[in-house]
Amino acid sequence: MKKIIITIDGPAASGKEKIAKYISKKWKFKHLDSGLLYRRLALILHNEKIETKDINEIKKRIEKINNISFRRSKKLRTQEISQLASKIAIHQFVRQYVNDLQYDFVSKHKKIRGFVIDGRDIGSVVFKKANLKLYIEVNSEIRAKRRYKQLIDSGEKSIYRKILMDVKLRDKKDKMRENSPLIIPNGAHIINNNKSFKHTINQINKLMENF
Ligand code: C5P
Repeated sequence: MKKIIITIDGPAASGKEKIAKYISKKWKFKHLDSGLLYRRLALILHNEKIETKDINEIKKRIEKINNISFRRSKKLRTQEISQLASKIAIHQFVRQYVNDLQYDFVSKHKKIRGFVIDGRDIGSVVFKKANLKLYIEVNSEIRAKRRYKQLIDSGEKSIYRKILMDVKLRDKKDKMRENSPLIIPNGAHIINNNKSFKHTINQINKLMENF
């Protein structure tokens, strides 16, 4: 069975996950959030107090992992883990590890026809030959406001200005890094997610007509 891959890339807090969940539900595609895997690694290092500067220690720790959880957790969503995830994501060996997890995920779900995978480099590096590539665009103030509301709604204390700074810092790190920087992948469709979700999904529905 030929598998269908839809990739969603875009900056921090651009709404990739919400869009991926929408596609996953409507077309019964399996969703994989690659950011969650970077966050999971960051949490392991954080819990074991492994310095992000200590490349050898990170390598050794990753080599020891037998089984990594793909489960969502509130612990993965804190500001601290977000920052840490983007720090370790600069290393090629970390990226290779996460990419391999994604390839395994797709090949192990033999009976699944379609996958929707979101991240920063999915259409540009991980699944270059995807059937449909989306790149989500939203200005940084709107992203920070949405993330702020999410954190407050989930009971976390939060300061809007700090979130805006964090979003801008992560954008800079993601776009400037040497390995797999955030770019608009070749052949990607740009989705404007500045307005309502309805406006966004109208653009998606048109592109998904053939699936
Ligand atoms: O998407 P999310 O914000 O959960 O990702 C956490 C961090 O992991 C990002 O800030 C980014 O630095 C890194 N990441 C990445 N490549 C991906 C997914 C996430 O570099 N494909």
